[in-house]
Formats: sequence, structure tokens, C-alpha cells
Amino acid sequence: MASSKPERPRLDTTTPNMGRVADYFLGGKDNFAADREAAKAAMAITPELPVLWREGRRFLGRAVRFLAQEAGIRQFIDVGCGLPTQGNVHEIAHAVAPDARVVYVDNDPMVVVHGQALLQDDRLTVVVEADLRDPEALLADPGLTKMINPEEPVAILLFGVLQDIQDDSQVDQIIDYLRKTISPGSYLAISHPVGDLRPEATAKLAAFYQNEGAVSGPHRKGLRSKAEIERYFDGLALVDPGVVYIPEWRPEDDLIHRPDSIWVVGGIGHKE
Ligand SMILES: C[S@@+](CC[C@H](N)C(=O)[O-])C[C@H]1O[C@@H](n2cnc3c(N)ncnc32)[C@H](O)[C@@H]1O
Repeated sequence: MASSKPERPRLDTTTPNMGRVADYFLGGKDNFAADREAAKAAMAITPELPVLWREGRRFLGRAVRFLAQEAGIRQFIDVGCGLPTQGNVHEIAHAVAPDARVVYVDNDPMVVVHGQALLQDDRLTVVVEADLRDPEALLADPGLTKMINPEEPVAILLFGVLQDIQDDSQVDQIIDYLRKTISPGSYLAISHPVGDLRPEATAKLAAFYQNEGAVSGPHRKGLRSKAEIERYFDGLALVDPGVVYIPEWRPEDDLIHRPDSIWVVGGIGHKE
């Protein structure tokens, strides 16, 4: 993997942070003026953002329930977990499997401190500070290795995080590494906003986040496409219904939003 270590972020409340911007969209209180300003300016471009984030959490719920219940997964690594909100991975997993172990990972120190404070009495859940851009170091983090047995199947969750890494070849390397490293029986779950449905507005939004310093790496024109996200599952068996717009992924109730207004795709791959 990349030999240069990613820069370790410090707590900076003057630059918008995607986790805190998402917290604002989800109705949370863990955000600062710069995050709120960025969120409002982003909503001027794409007003559906709060709905998108809520649908993202609903997808996360269905995906984790599938993994714990149907797939029998007992180890979860939620990378780019974001600030604690309603319906966190450990709550959903423990409702099905009280013995499931959950490792939350984020590279934002504020997310990590918040999570650790909240979960200090929970023996089965930890929060570690690590960077997805160095997946080898991430999986070797001592906080993670004391919870996760690499010989056993694991679910790696990359929900709403890969779009923060703008460099396509870096994302390809990360995905390759994870696919190669996880043990047989493991799952890789991804959700990712895509540009196919609203190319102009979403390209404008991507450029806006880039200018605000909320995403890392060289600027890419617009969001990735659905086809690009599908490629991340190459070599894995896609769980039915494949990579789809998230309201269409195993809906548990009537679709509230037309799938085409939610320009986020999601899918789960299985390493057989
Ligand atoms: C927008 S939030 C998504 C939160 C949650 N996964 C969800 O879907 O609701 C993205 C999170 O990814 C984190 N993040 C961004 N780049 C990261 C990286 N390279 N390594 C680890 N975490 C990262 C951010 O700090 C933020 O908390």
C-alpha cells in the first residue's frame, strides 16, 4: 500500500467536516458554524441532502440487519462511522446478535472522542482513530485487533465515506487491499453518492465541497458513477439485488422517496 502516511487531522472547527455536516443534515447538535454554513450552502445546490442522509441511515440499518441476521456476521468494522446518531451499527447488530463485536473507525478526532465517551462501558464496541487511506495500518490498529479475529468472517462497512477520498487510484488500491485481506465468508458493504441522475447539480456540489476543504485529494470532476461503484465489488459475489439506488435495496416498508431522487447507490459483496 501507499508508503506515505496520510496526514493526521487535528480538530479544526473552522473548516467544514463531512461528518459534522452530515450530523447537521441528520438533525444532530455536534456541528460548528462552519459546518452549518457549508450544509446550508450545499442545500442551496441540492435541497434533497437531508433526505439523502436519512435514507443513507435507513439503508445502513437494513444492511446491518441483513449481515447480522441472514449472513450471521459477528464482527463489524464501520469505517468513516461519523458522529454517533440514531440507529448506530452496534445498536442494530446487538438487537439481532448481542455478542456481535463492533469497531468504529474514523479519522476525525472529534468523532473518535465523542464515540469513546459514549461507549466506554460497552465491552463489545470500540472506537479507533485510523485512516482508510492506509488500510493496512487501519486493520493493524491495536484497538481493532483486540476485537476482531482476522481468521473469522467480518463485515467491512464503507458507508458514505469513499466520496471523501477524491483520488480514484487511491480508492482502487484501498478496495483491492480490503478484498484481498478479508477472510473467506466476509462481506464488504458500500454506499456512495453518484453523479448519474443529476450530473450538473452533483458536479457543482462536489466542486463546492472541494473548495470548502471538506474532502481530501486532487479534485475530480463530479461524483463517481454507478458503474464505478459496481466495479468495487469485482471478484465478490453480489448479494441480491446487487448495486442499486439505496431505497431499492431490500426495502422493509413502502418506498417513501422515489429511488431516482436519491442519488446514492449501495450494495453488499460476499467473499466466498
Ligand atoms: C459523511 S460521514 C458518514 C457517516 C456514516 N458512515 C453514515 O453513512 O451516515 C463520513 C465520515 O467519514 C470520515 N472519513 C472521511 N475520510 C476518512 C478517511 N480517510 N479515513 C477514515 N474516516 C474518514 C469523516 O470524518 C466522517 O466522519
